[in-house]
Amino acid sequence: MRVFASLSVAILALASLSTSAQPPAPPQMQAPKAQLAAPQVPQLAPPQVVPPMGWNSWNFFAERVTDKDIRDAADHLVATGMKDAGYTYINIDDTWEGERDVTGVLHTNSKFPDMKALADYVHSKGLKIGIYSGPGNKTCGGYAASLGHEEQDAKMYAGWGIDYLKYDLCSFRVDVMDKQAPNDKAAQMRLMVAAYDKMGKALQTTGRPIVYSLCQYGWDAVWEWAPSVGGNLWRTTGDVQANWESIYNIASQQAGLEKYASPGHWNDPDMLEVGNGKLSLAENRTHFSLWAMLAAPLLAGNDLPNMKPEIRAILTNRDVIAIDQDRLGKQASRIYSEGEVDVWTRPLADGALAVAVVNAGSDRYSTHPFHLDLAKLGLHGPQTAKDLWTGKPVTLADNQPIELASHDVLLVRIASPR
Ligand code: GLA
Repeated sequence: MRVFASLSVAILALASLSTSAQPPAPPQMQAPKAQLAAPQVPQLAPPQVVPPMGWNSWNFFAERVTDKDIRDAADHLVATGMKDAGYTYINIDDTWEGERDVTGVLHTNSKFPDMKALADYVHSKGLKIGIYSGPGNKTCGGYAASLGHEEQDAKMYAGWGIDYLKYDLCSFRVDVMDKQAPNDKAAQMRLMVAAYDKMGKALQTTGRPIVYSLCQYGWDAVWEWAPSVGGNLWRTTGDVQANWESIYNIASQQAGLEKYASPGHWNDPDMLEVGNGKLSLAENRTHFSLWAMLAAPLLAGNDLPNMKPEIRAILTNRDVIAIDQDRLGKQASRIYSEGEVDVWTRPLADGALAVAVVNAGSDRYSTHPFHLDLAKLGLHGPQTAKDLWTGKPVTLADNQPIELASHDVLLVRIASPR
């Protein structure tokens, strides 16, 4: 079933946030935009201009993650060739936090006995390390977050050698927005922007380049203000899940946001579910293709020590990764849809054009004869291309019938589009 999310309705589903381990529900509706512009701060020098690549603990381990899992993930990122393919960050998500002491210093919990030693270990592998917190009292998992301790926490992260922070709204809503501005959505949004600005400045003050990842589910058109608070990437939706409907729905919600992506500043459709759940190989391929077309951060979230060869092949496909990491930094546009087939294109730095044709049809076993209209893509006559999943050259003729299995993708790079 096709699902297109509205990006324009003006009421916020604030009630969906909670401080439990439950992920917040996707914002089906957008908030009224905060009237007060975010304070202008000097930009954090982007630690890297291409979308971050790496692995994050949440999608596979959730609250069970331990120090050992992080070390194993680092080892396997190297051993599987993923590091060589560009995966750099090992990101610890929620549930590493312990209690604050009387001086306000946040300690790790028993699952993470020595964060500095862990960071050193990850760095010793030639990788970088990320961590997680939020602007409220509690994270989404109910652990201690950074409210009132922003500078102290940022300084501690920098002292540990942290390279990436995911900052998740969670209990900030009940702790601050509801309390300080009950029934005033616009004022609530201003408080939220200010909270992200506060941590952006705190990170900047440390002097350490730390990728700043905003996680507040796309509220208040975050793509319009995130760069002004130092954000390098910002979640655009609720949490991804390892099923086709979730992945396709989230990808669809990125259409129209392409103008907000640029080198160092990325729309974040959430982490990868490649290799998780019951996704078919076609679905895994399409998920990865779409995220690459969308210039999305490529943060794998699978069980690296037990990764199947076919999943490794998808995650390390250099041609597809090159689309994601293209230096022009242009996010794909969905050019047209016909029936249940979508066509996306992405211009690349060397003048090439990436084209993705996705069959979103729900019948797993059928194919959808589809005729690609090259003129709609601004192309004239037959195009020589490379099929990035077979690695073979293909010629795309006008009105050529393309057969795609359910939820499968044709992803090509046209070197010299005409
Ligand atoms: C929220 C985020 C997820 C994850 C969890 C952790 O749901 O959106 O990506 O970080 O919190 O509790």
